[in-house]
This record gives sequence, structure tokens and C-alpha cells, in this order.
Amino acid sequence: MSRSGQLNSPFHQWTTTMVNRVWSFVRTRGAVNWQHPLARRYGSMGEGSYQAFPPGDCTNPHTIHIGRNCFIGAGVTLAVGMPTEVYAPDHGPVIEIGDRTTVGKNCWFVARHSIVLEDDVMIAPNVYFTDHNHTYADPWLPVGQQVIQGKPVRVGAGTWIATNAVILPGTTIGANCTIAAGAVVRGDIPDHSVVAGVPGRIVRRWTRADGWQPPFTEPIGVVEGWPVGVPPELREPETPA
Ligand SMILES: CC(C)(COP(=O)(O)OP(=O)(O)OC[C@H]1O[C@@H](n2cnc3c(N)ncnc32)[C@H](O)[C@@H]1OP(=O)(O)O)[C@@H](O)C(=O)NCCC(=O)NCCS
Repeated sequence: MSRSGQLNSPFHQWTTTMVNRVWSFVRTRGAVNWQHPLARRYGSMGEGSYQAFPPGDCTNPHTIHIGRNCFIGAGVTLAVGMPTEVYAPDHGPVIEIGDRTTVGKNCWFVARHSIVLEDDVMIAPNVYFTDHNHTYADPWLPVGQQVIQGKPVRVGAGTWIATNAVILPGTTIGANCTIAAGAVVRGDIPDHSVVAGVPGRIVRRWTRADGWQPPFTEPIGVVEGWPVGVPPELREPETPA
């Protein structure tokens, strides 16, 4: 039988179907939701949150806090220190993920100090966050053996970070920012900024005084019934959960 004949044989088709069904079953059943005992390894996982299967590497999970109604994609690494580094059981939060935040597949959080995503942050796949650098001042010691220094990372509420972006130590990104695909970001980014490129630069920004500058090159389509944002000063106070 020819190779293509083998690939179309009933046995081959049956095994392909079974492998796909089993994998689909494994992925569905392997997801960990906030009610599952496995979620208790985290410092906290809020109601309505879940982590897709297969998970990425995870170290010192007791220092990782995940808010309510979050989605953590498959293969997301949540590393607090290396596997040999033990954080005390009563250590405070190192990675904090706010309510309704979604983290796409295969993102990396490599933390030693503090990485905070506030509420309603949306992270596309393959985004890399770290809060530390290897220093390299000693010319004769391998860089990997030199002192590690870090500064916290914070991402403001409502921000979107597009695929393959890298967020470097000491970065503070404001609220409702857009970080373009592939951007390498560090420093302080004000609210409502669009950052693109390597190194990341603000390419557009909204302020109350001037609106969006520079103006959009293409008009944003209006969809009837789509929700409209409300300025903070006009919002109803939130009732505590
Ligand atoms: C940032 C983005 C949303 C476009 O935003 P925008 O405000 O419409 O930006 P514009 O297209 O007007 O571009 C503004 C400037 O930024 C530059 N720019 C936009 N995206 C860029 C990128 N990813 N990398 C480098 N430069 C970029 C443009 O070239 C332009 O530069 P110029 O003024 O010198 O010509 C889009 O380019 C992007 O990166 N999307 C990510 C898609 C993605 O990852 N989706 C995952 C789904 S979760």
C-alpha cells in the first residue's frame, strides 16, 4: 500500500480520531479551576478563575495570587525564583494577577521581587515578564554567577499587551495602555499610551486635553449595542464582593 493509502486507511483514521478525542478530553479534564484542590497550591485563586492544561512550570506557588474570573492559558510559566530557591511559607505575594485578567498561552512570568497585573489586563500569547537582571560588572566571573538585581513590574488596569512583547524589570505600565506586538518595554508608561518597537516608544497617547494624538489613521468602527466606557468620576461606587 502506498504511503497516502496508509494515511487514509480505516485504522489510521480511527487512531487519529482517538488520539484527538483523548487529547481533547485530557485538555478539558486537566484544567484546574478555583474549586479544585490543586488550586490550593497557589497563595490564592479567586472564584471563577481557571488554568488551562497543560500548565507551564511553576515554582513557589504559595507566593502567587490569582484574582477572580481570571484565565491562565496553557503552558504559562509562573516562576518565583528557580526550583532550588525556597520562599518561606509566610512570604508575601510575588506574582499578583488581578480580577478578570487573561493570560495567553505560553507566557512567562519570571519573578523574584514583584510582578503585578491589575484588574482587567489582557495578555496575548508568548509575552515575557521579568523583574530581575543578571548583573555583568565583574569581567572575570561568568555572568550567570553574578549578583541578580531586580525592580518590580506593574501593569495598570485595563491594559492590553500584544503577542511576543517583553516587559523588563522596573517597568510600570499605566491603565488602559496598548503594548504592540513584539515591543520591548521598560520604564514608566503613562495611562492610555500605545507603545511599539524595540526599544518601546510611545507612538500614540490619549489625554483629556488633546484626545488621541496623533489621531487614528483609520476610523474605529462603531458597533451598535457595544458597551461604552464611563469616566471614573461618573461611575457608581462598586459594591464589595
Ligand atoms: C499596536 C497595534 C494594535 C496597532 O495600534 P494603532 O494605534 O492602530 O497603531 P498604528 O497602526 O496607527 O501605528 C502607529 C505607529 O506604531 C507603529 N507600530 C504599530 N504596531 C507596531 C508593532 N507591532 N511593532 C512596531 N511598530 C508598530 C506603526 O508602524 C506606526 O508607526 P509610524 O507612525 O512611524 O508609521 C497593532 O500594530 C499590534 O501590534 N497589534 C497586536 C496584535 C496581537 O498581538 N494580537 C493578539 C490578540 S490578543
